[in-house]
Amino acid sequence: MDTFLNRRAAVALILGGTASACKAKTSIRHSSKRASLTGAFAHGVASGDPLSDRVILWTRITPDDPSVSSLNVNWEMSKTENFDELIASGSFQTSAARNWTVKVDAAGLGAGEWYYYRFNSGENLSPIGKTRTLPKGKVPEARFAVVSCANWQHGYFNIYDHIARRQKDSDASFDALLHLGDYFYEYGAEYYGNAELQKQGRIHEPSHEVVSLDDYRIRHGQYRTDPSLQAVTAQMPMISIWDDHESSNDSWTGGAQNHDPETEGPWEDRKQAAMRAYYEWMPIRDPKAGLTREHLFRSFEWGDLITLAAVETRLMARSESFEFETYFDELMEDGGAEKFKRDILNDPSREILGKLQQDWIVDTFAKSKKANKPWRILVNQVLIGKMNSPDMTPYFDPEEVRSADRYADVLYKKLMLSPLQLPLYPDCWDGYPVARERFYGALSSAGVNDMLVLTGDSHEFWANDLTNEPGDKMGVELGTTSVSSETTGDVIGDAASDYALLVTQANEDVRFYDPTTQGFIDLTLTPKRGVARMIGVDTVRDQEYSIFETAKFDIVPDGNSLKFSGASGLNIKQRALFHGLG
Ligand SMILES: [Fe+2]
Repeated sequence: MDTFLNRRAAVALILGGTASACKAKTSIRHSSKRASLTGAFAHGVASGDPLSDRVILWTRITPDDPSVSSLNVNWEMSKTENFDELIASGSFQTSAARNWTVKVDAAGLGAGEWYYYRFNSGENLSPIGKTRTLPKGKVPEARFAVVSCANWQHGYFNIYDHIARRQKDSDASFDALLHLGDYFYEYGAEYYGNAELQKQGRIHEPSHEVVSLDDYRIRHGQYRTDPSLQAVTAQMPMISIWDDHESSNDSWTGGAQNHDPETEGPWEDRKQAAMRAYYEWMPIRDPKAGLTREHLFRSFEWGDLITLAAVETRLMARSESFEFETYFDELMEDGGAEKFKRDILNDPSREILGKLQQDWIVDTFAKSKKANKPWRILVNQVLIGKMNSPDMTPYFDPEEVRSADRYADVLYKKLMLSPLQLPLYPDCWDGYPVARERFYGALSSAGVNDMLVLTGDSHEFWANDLTNEPGDKMGVELGTTSVSSETTGDVIGDAASDYALLVTQANEDVRFYDPTTQGFIDLTLTPKRGVARMIGVDTVRDQEYSIFETAKFDIVPDGNSLKFSGASGLNIKQRALFHGLG
């Protein structure tokens, strides 16, 4: 999403907030300072894409001798941490052609089992990782840590540290880390960072925007040196999808907002480089024969409890997104907004999933429904709930906005457009309303009206009802905030809660909205109930941090759909936002 800065700065000016958001604190503080790995396995280990009999194991070796053409890396799996009995083992040959990354699809494993794994090459031994296969049969409970948006230059990955710590120290362990995208950011050091963090030396490498294959590889490598990221990926399997920043801001099939073919070359070259580096550096299974790298979508089954479909909404089928400011003059004309909605926003040719993927999701969920599984999770990049921009004109003088130091023109346009009932985030599903209705229609026809959609991207917490145009429930959505990327609250301070009130009041489907904290969602699913805990962190600018629960919701069946049944931990204002549910 590209419009954060502009949009947030607009809100800041309009609502006039400057102080930092007030955040609850607990007395228990932790530190994400961990020793950095060195040597041959300095990028740590990871696992991912678990199935009931196999899981992807990942590492990267840094050759001692840079002139070698290839290296054999051995891998081992065991039920015990001392590896006295091996369950599986093998060898993988890597080379510069794959940037010395190692990826093994370790098969022949038991369902629902925890395993330890490690790598070695010559004298070099990797750290030990822990992973789990998917369970089969009766599954009483599953638990996920849901994360997105980790920007190196915006902060420390304290949330990764916390999740890793929890996994290590507690009996109630997560089954998987669900990473919803913006695993890294493509920007150069000079753009979209935090000045304080830059002073501390937390600066993107390479220092320029990443465009070439080498660039993407270096950026992946930099993020994987982070001890908190290493710790969390060593503790549990990850299921990841990319959003836009793993390629470039607001990417779509034919380009990106942050891609200029004049200076950065053909989009197709950049897209291929970004995807190749992603498949090299992430613990995901390579596309099946007949599919290309764009076909990121895949599904996972937790026995009789959950069907999880991880989807791709950027590079495979998405039409170009737009910014309303570009159409300012047309929109401000009499009847302009209606004309825009009719001719552009609701253009039926605009696509986001594509037919191939939509058919696959509907088929996957229809089978799940037929098997009487209680949960169908869509792991998705951008918000699917409906949310229009609130009317902000009563709160600010347009002439003052016009004299703002930064973004004056954009801010003024956003303010003037705010009463027109236009989507808050046109880069999200709201920018593709006809495609969303097509998707909902196909799901409804297959008897699927109860998706639990998990979404990243926005750097804000959301709990949304999902409804189609006739108003039928299609399920619910949980939006997770960022690991470190700046939130609206970082920009507009205490005014963020007023802004949240405006957004929530303007949108019936938005049940809860918290734009004030970085964090993650701790999601537990049992056959009859889901519990979503929105967990915040008090700082990402310092490695000493504390964690607090900002809200907790139950999700229960509601006819043929789902609903939020209760909320706790909310203050009075948040309760008002939550449409009266106690
Ligand atoms: Fe993001």
